[in-house]
Amino acid sequence: MELRGRRDEDLPGAARLLARVHTADGYPSRWPEDPGAWLTPTGQRGAWVVAGEDGDVLGHVALVDRAPGRGLASDAPVEVVRLFVDPARRRCGVAALLLAAAVARADELGLDVDLQVVAASARAVTAYERLGWREVRRHAAAWTSASGEHPEVVRMVPPPRAGAGGRGAA
Ligand SMILES: CC(C)(COP(=O)(O)OP(=O)(O)OC[C@H]1O[C@@H](n2cnc3c(N)ncnc32)[C@H](O)[C@@H]1OP(=O)(O)O)[C@@H](O)C(=O)NCCC(=O)NCCS
Repeated sequence: MELRGRRDEDLPGAARLLARVHTADGYPSRWPEDPGAWLTPTGQRGAWVVAGEDGDVLGHVALVDRAPGRGLASDAPVEVVRLFVDPARRRCGVAALLLAAAVARADELGLDVDLQVVAASARAVTAYERLGWREVRRHAAAWTSASGEHPEVVRMVPPPRAGAGGRGAA
């Protein structure tokens, strides 16, 4: 397995993987009209993949500004988004690698980082907790699910890191 920055040529493979994850896990809740655009949100600060020996995308994550309108010089927090792993390669540490890359980028930028997860996604919440992330608040999502509801979401922050300044330091 290789963790690396996402390249443009990874997008079709990432979109194919996303389709499998959508079928298996219902993530994302609504299938995006343009998966390539969905994988490249406004205000993106980075995107990474884990690739298998044959180059297949096994997992994906992105880091985005939470206030994208404010420009790249903004010191607004950044958010981990678009995290998903091949259903056949779960619990092998793929998400751990991807999250570490995204958090390391946030630390390089000197920005606070968090993520939002649907409270009912027990597998994802458990995985984050196992990796040391902790809940800071719960609220109704700003977006609606496929059934038209605003699901409860949990906002989580990563474990303390050395060198994360006042934001995440132990
Ligand atoms: C959530 C998800 C990204 C986790 O990916 P993963 O590669 O299996 O996670 P990892 O292997 O890095 O596991 C991280 C930790 O969580 C634990 N974990 C992962 N899945 C778990 C599960 N279903 N039950 C219990 N623990 C689990 C792992 O054992 C590991 O803990 P450990 O280091 O103490 O052993 C993956 O299940 C997924 O893609 N789900 C669908 C998409 C999704 O919900 N994305 C999140 C959107 S917010």
